[in-house]
Amino acid sequence: TAGGTPPGEVVGSGGEVHQPVEDGQVLTSAQGIPLADDQNSLRAGERGPTLLEDFAMREKIFHFDHERIPERVVHARGYGAHGTFETTADLSAITRAAIFSKVGRKTEAFVRFSTVAGAKGSFDLARDVRGFAVKLYTTEGNWDIVGNNIPVFFIQDAIKFPDLVHAVKEEPDRAFPQAQSAHDNFWDFVSFTPEAIHMTLWQMSDRAIPRSFRFMEGFGVHTFRFVNAGGESTFVKFHWKPLQGMQSVVWNEAVKINGADPDFHRRDLWDAITTGDFPQWDLAVQVFDEEFAQEFDFDVLDATKLIPEELVPLQVVGRLTLDRVVDNDFAETEQVAFHTGNIPPGVDFSNDPLLHGRNFSYLDTQLSRLGTPNFTQLPINAPRCPVAHFQRDGQMQTAVPTGRVNYEPNGFGGSERGPRADTRAGFQSYAEPIEGLKARVRSETFADHYSQARQFFVSQTPVEQDHIVKAYTFELGKCESPQVRSRMLAHLMNVHDDLAVGVAEGLGMPLPEPATPARQPITDLPPSDALSILKNG
Ligand code: HEM
Repeated sequence: TAGGTPPGEVVGSGGEVHQPVEDGQVLTSAQGIPLADDQNSLRAGERGPTLLEDFAMREKIFHFDHERIPERVVHARGYGAHGTFETTADLSAITRAAIFSKVGRKTEAFVRFSTVAGAKGSFDLARDVRGFAVKLYTTEGNWDIVGNNIPVFFIQDAIKFPDLVHAVKEEPDRAFPQAQSAHDNFWDFVSFTPEAIHMTLWQMSDRAIPRSFRFMEGFGVHTFRFVNAGGESTFVKFHWKPLQGMQSVVWNEAVKINGADPDFHRRDLWDAITTGDFPQWDLAVQVFDEEFAQEFDFDVLDATKLIPEELVPLQVVGRLTLDRVVDNDFAETEQVAFHTGNIPPGVDFSNDPLLHGRNFSYLDTQLSRLGTPNFTQLPINAPRCPVAHFQRDGQMQTAVPTGRVNYEPNGFGGSERGPRADTRAGFQSYAEPIEGLKARVRSETFADHYSQARQFFVSQTPVEQDHIVKAYTFELGKCESPQVRSRMLAHLMNVHDDLAVGVAEGLGMPLPEPATPARQPITDLPPSDALSILKNG
């Protein structure tokens, strides 16, 4: 104000009063300019036109206009929390990852749970797969285990992912259904994609309507590798086991809860953490070598298959505790960027073709979602260990590197020389021998689409089986096309008679001829025999 005198009282046209701030913070513009009135735009006369000169109003509205960023193309609806991962097993014999080098080591963690299909504003208790993405801020960089609450996936090859997601999301003409798999496009796609049948069994089971995020398992899904200091590799699968146990609601409850409280799951997590009832999960691994993997009747590189825990028991290696809610949903949960490609030395990829596609997809999509390659500098994404490289500039660059050198190799000395790659501490890919023809092919070992679906069905209690039958009946009952329903029944006949007959009766349809399997499934065997065949071939 003129002469540096403090601003006096300002009365707005709505009658609100702005007074000098005696204590607390003064409201400023984004440039830090203190503002005397944030509720009345600058006018020529009490009832006159608003002036373009009003930088405070223009800046406020300009920023508001750009508040939204694109929601995630999948897993748009999510909820996050902070926590700690404590290592409980020394795995240095099989991995050189520092996180597993010492029992008792604590690592900061951030987790985002999500649904897959629904938009950001959809409801929590849709029948859907749940995302279970964990960021571990290790001393050797961020390690993301970007998993789901179901151990298998719909497709074997990432090139199908855009089709899968187009089919499961709302239909493009009518823009519904918004958050359900109960529609023609999804089941039409599945009926032509038999590899998806196994995952739909899980999706139609009670696992897809969890009681809360706290009562879910999590799975890394793919086979990964551990690599030790000697360069030796073992295959590994990651599992999160809730110490709270597993619980689901039933469909009837899910429908009512969605209506009464669409935020049921996020409220549950917030309430649990803020009242000190911290949810915990054990991280367990299944570890096996290449020779053992060869014995299975399925391929460990096929993400539509799981490795039965009876064949490769789980070994608990750490515990995750979520003990802090976010300060700000946008800054943390919305801006967090998980990526399957974020792995520390000692962890490596297998040749799962779905995983390789994901390793491209996450970084790529995050550029359009977060708008700049510098999203790694956002507090939620920034590693907690030192970062030193020659990546420079770009939109929203916040780092201020000093000195003359921004390239390597360079001939400078001392600290001027900048960082250098280190063959001892640095990440080295597992040196896997590779041979074969370059071609668009899929291995014959990926061809059995029904055996594990059947094993899952028979592993369920009669009540749970009944829920699966009812879920298929409900979901397929929403399909307008009898051909889609019929094709789905033809697949279900290859899974289990009780399932196919139950769903056909529910739909009031005759049973068609079973679908021709790509490879003869092991469906006629009782589960124990099937397991031994899986193991012994
Ligand atoms: C997001 C899991 C397959 C592309 C996510 C998220 C999870 C997840 C948990 C949410 C991350 C978050 O909370 O921010 C999985 C699992 C898969 C799978 C377990 C299979 C095993 C794929 C495939 C692709 C893909 C095959 C593409 C080829 C994406 C994209 C996002 C996403 C683009 C949005 C990421 C973002 O905007 O930050 N996925 N996904 N996913 N996934 Fe996947």
